Amino acid sequence: MGAGLCNKTMALFYLVIMASLVSTVAELQRFQQSTNGDGSLSFLVIGDWGRRGAENQSQVALQMGMIGEKLDVNFVISTGDNFYDNGLTGVDDPNFEESFTKIYTAKSLQKPWYTVLGNHDYRGNVEAQLSPVLRKIDRRWICLRSFIVNAEVAEFFFIDTNPFVDMYFYDPKDHMYDWRGLRPSRKIYITNVLKELDLALKKSTAKWKIVVGHHAVRSVGHHGDTEELVQLLLPVLRANYVDLYMNGHDHCLEHISGTNDRPIQFLTSGAGSKAWRGDVKGLERDGMKFFYDGQGFMSVQLTQTDAEIVFYDVSGEVLHRFNLAKPLYADM
Ligand SMILES: *[C@@H]1O[C@H](CO)[C@@H](O)[C@H](O)[C@H]1NC(C)=O
Repeated sequence: MGAGLCNKTMALFYLVIMASLVSTVAELQRFQQSTNGDGSLSFLVIGDWGRRGAENQSQVALQMGMIGEKLDVNFVISTGDNFYDNGLTGVDDPNFEESFTKIYTAKSLQKPWYTVLGNHDYRGNVEAQLSPVLRKIDRRWICLRSFIVNAEVAEFFFIDTNPFVDMYFYDPKDHMYDWRGLRPSRKIYITNVLKELDLALKKSTAKWKIVVGHHAVRSVGHHGDTEELVQLLLPVLRANYVDLYMNGHDHCLEHISGTNDRPIQFLTSGAGSKAWRGDVKGLERDGMKFFYDGQGFMSVQLTQTDAEIVFYDVSGEVLHRFNLAKPLYADM
């Protein structure tokens, strides 16, 4: 009798799971993130970090902990390249704890970490980073290919930008990439992600629309602009009045303002460990507001009317700070 009931419960459980899978096929998975009592929101953004504490990763982590406490952050965003050099080997790779759990130890950072994948993550077992098993080791870890976080005042659209980049497919050098999850094909995958993003942005009623990916749309750092994203992703961001596009990939901090009538702010936070590449180019470009070649991170504070964005260096010193007032067109 007991076993029969259990089987029935399991059957029902699977039915519910199957039904929810079917109904979400055409939509990105959503997470609900609570805000502060007054509806405001604050978070940190870090990228390109996991080196078991080396290359000033631990120093940056320490400062994140302090700024995180000061701002009482709700969560952390990772812009990818989470584990160097080659992602994780599996869910039991000690690099997960050595580069994440044991580094970002401050109390203020014990919040959800919404994480995208970088190209270095694809050089390992990419399914491992996506596995819910990691959440059992460290419950902060929320890593999916593309997903949405709804936080009332703001909605965040996390996009896996790796499949967009031609070079990884046609000129991978001596790197192996784990494309197992790219189904049914790269082309269909990209088309679907863009379609899903466009739909979700159109449906969004949040004041602030923020898109996060590993690769830059605009950057003057080592890798520069990602042409595939300029061509395919940028039109979707523009058409839907996206406020901020945040990325890593270039190991620096930068702020480039869009120069047209729908000025997206392009923010690079990819300075979580190894930096000082020394090959910045095009600092004179239109909309260039700030570039820093060394380690650091970024904080964002949002209310219904204002965004306050700050970049910090490895000692927690403020490098650049700017404020955005919510443009009127968002209320139309
Ligand atoms: C770490 O940060 C210190 C302080 O800015 C700097 O002097 C040093 O060069 C950095 N180390 C590395 C490996 O980047």
